[in-house]
Amino acid sequence: MERKWWHNKTAYQIYPKSFYDSNGDGIGDIPGIIEKLDYLKELGVEILWLSPVYLSPCADQGYDIADYYQIDPKFGTMEDMDRLIREARDRGMEILMDLVVNHCSDEHEWFQKACADPDGEYGKLFYIEDMKDGKVPCNWRSYFGGSVWEPIPGTNKCYLHAFHKKQPDLNWENPKLRESVYKMINWWLDKGLAGFRIDAIINIKKPLPFCSYPADREDGLCDMGRVMEKAHGIGAFLGEMQEQCFRPYDAFTVGEVFNASDEALSDFIGEDGWFSSMFDFRQTVEGKSDKGWYDCRIPEPEDYKRCCFESQRQARGRGYLSNIIENHDEPRGVSHYLPEYARNETGKKLLAAMYFMLKGLPFIYQGQELGMENTVFTSIEQVDDISSLDEYRRCLEVGCSEKQALEIVNHYSRDNGRTPFPWSDGEAGGFTTGTPWISMNPSYKTVNAADQMKRSDSMFSYYQELIRLRKDQTYGETVVYGETEPCLVEEKNIMAYFRRGEKNSLLVIGNFDRCERTVRLKELEELSSANLLLNNCESFRLKQGSLTLESCQALVLALQN
Ligand code: GLC
Ligand code: CA
Repeated sequence: MERKWWHNKTAYQIYPKSFYDSNGDGIGDIPGIIEKLDYLKELGVEILWLSPVYLSPCADQGYDIADYYQIDPKFGTMEDMDRLIREARDRGMEILMDLVVNHCSDEHEWFQKACADPDGEYGKLFYIEDMKDGKVPCNWRSYFGGSVWEPIPGTNKCYLHAFHKKQPDLNWENPKLRESVYKMINWWLDKGLAGFRIDAIINIKKPLPFCSYPADREDGLCDMGRVMEKAHGIGAFLGEMQEQCFRPYDAFTVGEVFNASDEALSDFIGEDGWFSSMFDFRQTVEGKSDKGWYDCRIPEPEDYKRCCFESQRQARGRGYLSNIIENHDEPRGVSHYLPEYARNETGKKLLAAMYFMLKGLPFIYQGQELGMENTVFTSIEQVDDISSLDEYRRCLEVGCSEKQALEIVNHYSRDNGRTPFPWSDGEAGGFTTGTPWISMNPSYKTVNAADQMKRSDSMFSYYQELIRLRKDQTYGETVVYGETEPCLVEEKNIMAYFRRGEKNSLLVIGNFDRCERTVRLKELEELSSANLLLNNCESFRLKQGSLTLESCQALVLALQN
């Protein structure tokens, strides 16, 4: 595999609105990020992905962009952004922005002009269609609920939005649109960005001409995810974007791509793939249901393990995945993947080690390094996220009580990851001197950065160790490039794998069980505590090839080849 500058780094996702507020208005901002760069440096991360900070009415928290060339005043100014890029570089860190080009905001100038003259040049930048006898062109259901079609007032026309109605889809079939997008990307790359995280990109290729598919709910509509499976030929767009933007700058790109087949994975991130990397979402989607959150199943450790191994198998020889346990669209990883008895610092470290040591580029989502759990909503009024509100309605519609509906939203809500970062146990967790735009997770009194930074046994310190291992003189090479080889797969609740490197190998082993477990492995016969690189517990019980692991214990052991 060709070596890339980003392979041995660790990436970190910042959700700017909730990271650090520098001016007391309750909203996190770019100067706030700059103030906290030293914290990130101390953690050891070297690539920072910022969720959108462009001008936006924030119907979907910045994923609805009104001007790609402007920073939203609530986040700061373009000078702040330039300074962030510079100050990050000074500390050996690179910045990725979020590239949201499947759609823009209905408040974008292009869309305003399109509505004023749907048949004109701007109208062609969107999907605008005639309504026939008041009927929309087809029965697709938006990801956030309801039809993808929204009438344009004062006309007999409607426009398509795969997400919220304030997020009209851009028409990628139009070469003029593509040209404008590429120009904008290059404008940002010229500023010195290292690259982008690429939002919802699968959606840019629609199956045309528009037609209805079999309905999958009583509303007569068909899920957008199903619809997108019918589209072919996205490669022409992505190849062009790679050619005109990413390749000339050697930009790093990581795609938000779900459910890729083996072949698609090679196209996306193989040698000369359209992107550098893509997120592994196999665990994320495990247990999810097209019917809605009410029908989802929370994965068990065995599911988690199976998903990880399947993705590692798929990526082998094909490309370099980006691994996560959570992001701004998901529940907190420790609340989702860990059984209740494991939701303590030992269990959280276990999960951290298991995903971090897989082959790929690990991403940490802000607060994850502190072991943050889901927040607590006592009323639906406290929920801000549009998809959570839609799912709440959906729960009620299928007969859940309000209490059940709130419980379900509590588990899956995207707001779980969007509560402000707890810097300390002080007022508003030290996030702001004002009132946070969304309630703090009440756990900030005990789970906060100030406490963890001074404790050598904290989650934060453990993540520092994991990050450092990627750079280790002796083992870094294996951590970054070694092939993953699962072992002890039949042992329920034990997740174990080798990382086979050229010079040496590693054994990563963890016990998700409630009880201690003993396993035997011939490779263990020659090992002793001298081979121990990482341990989240005090004990280390290895005797003649048999290893006893406490509940939630995770070990990384070095093997000579
Ligand atoms: C992506 C983003 C999500 C957003 C959606 C629409 O999935 O991660 O937050 O709502 O795209 O832009
Ligand atoms: Ca602010």
